[in-house]
Amino acid sequence: MIRKLQFFFLAFFCVFLLKAQPQKQFTPGEIWKDNNGKHLNVHGGGILFHDGIYYWYGEHKLAGKIGNTAQVGVSCYTSPDLYNWKDEGIALKVNETDPASEIAKGCILERPKVIYNAKTRKFVMWFHLELKDKGYYASRSGVAVSDSPTGPFTYLNSFRPNAGFWPVNVLPCHLKPVAPTVKDSYCGGKGCLAAPPDSLNLLGRDFKGGQMARDMNLFVDDDGSAYQIYSSEENSTIHISKLSDDYLSCSGNYFRVFSGRYMEGATLFKRNGKYYMIASDCTGWAPNTARSAVADQIFGNWTELGNPCVGKDSELTFHSQSTFVLQVQGKKDCYIYTGDRWTPENPIDGRYIWLPITFENDAPKIYWKDKWSL
Ligand code: DGJ
Repeated sequence: MIRKLQFFFLAFFCVFLLKAQPQKQFTPGEIWKDNNGKHLNVHGGGILFHDGIYYWYGEHKLAGKIGNTAQVGVSCYTSPDLYNWKDEGIALKVNETDPASEIAKGCILERPKVIYNAKTRKFVMWFHLELKDKGYYASRSGVAVSDSPTGPFTYLNSFRPNAGFWPVNVLPCHLKPVAPTVKDSYCGGKGCLAAPPDSLNLLGRDFKGGQMARDMNLFVDDDGSAYQIYSSEENSTIHISKLSDDYLSCSGNYFRVFSGRYMEGATLFKRNGKYYMIASDCTGWAPNTARSAVADQIFGNWTELGNPCVGKDSELTFHSQSTFVLQVQGKKDCYIYTGDRWTPENPIDGRYIWLPITFENDAPKIYWKDKWSL
């Protein structure tokens, strides 16, 4: 009996030790456990550094196909070191009681990002919102706000960005009357539109009601100006759109780039005064070849630099899609590519592909690593 008890306590102690062992490296594509021993549930997310802590926000997914719709909301995890994450619960909950709510349970709520506004002292969340049972046609941006980084966030509203505003680089063809035949659709990539986006004048079509905004990201510049970057015009073209000073709405000041290149998962970052973008092609949940680009100013001219990934499986972005580029605090020239390895049949099992970004002749490069640390 005593032997049995001794064995039991020893086994319990070993399990406890294993659980308490802090992570000291990134293991792309493996199960990443939180403080409760559960795989992190924070897909398509973004990371905020605030007062010495990293806050990771993302889509909370469920098992099975239903998991690609928002059944719960936006999750939040915290970490002091980027390796070890504590579950802080749901920062923004979907509305479970009012089916008429724009964020009703079952809507599509993707790629949430949070930034901090130092003037208003508010944490502001933006996300791609698709209304319940409407597929990907709504193409809206949702906004929520909180006094605390872990939430709860209060949902404010949703809209299509920049209604009634032309981009700073509007072309004469956009100012012409619009062919009424081009209806909103869910464009899954090159070839899904009958003609190039400018000849269809999708920008003009959406001038009054606001521009389509699907995959999106946020970027805060050194001067505190914040920008939303979104896939627009049936996913054919990226818009970089300056936010209002309180970060709660669009300023109407925006720039079109990569027209007809069908980029998704766009993520923007700054290094040595230059702006960089890493994005994906547009192939639904399936991985594809990533893109990268550089510009001296955020509103152009952007120059494409090609696929940043190098080596085996680089043409499939190591089976991932870009989500966010994190600039690590307190480390010189330290940037992390964060991507999602989607598992659309069982979304909760999606994996996180984090890899260091190196720079060769000022072009970003990403190499695969099974394990690595900062
Ligand atoms: C690719 C996007 O990047 C994802 O966020 C999601 O919208 C899927 N397409 C849906 O197919």
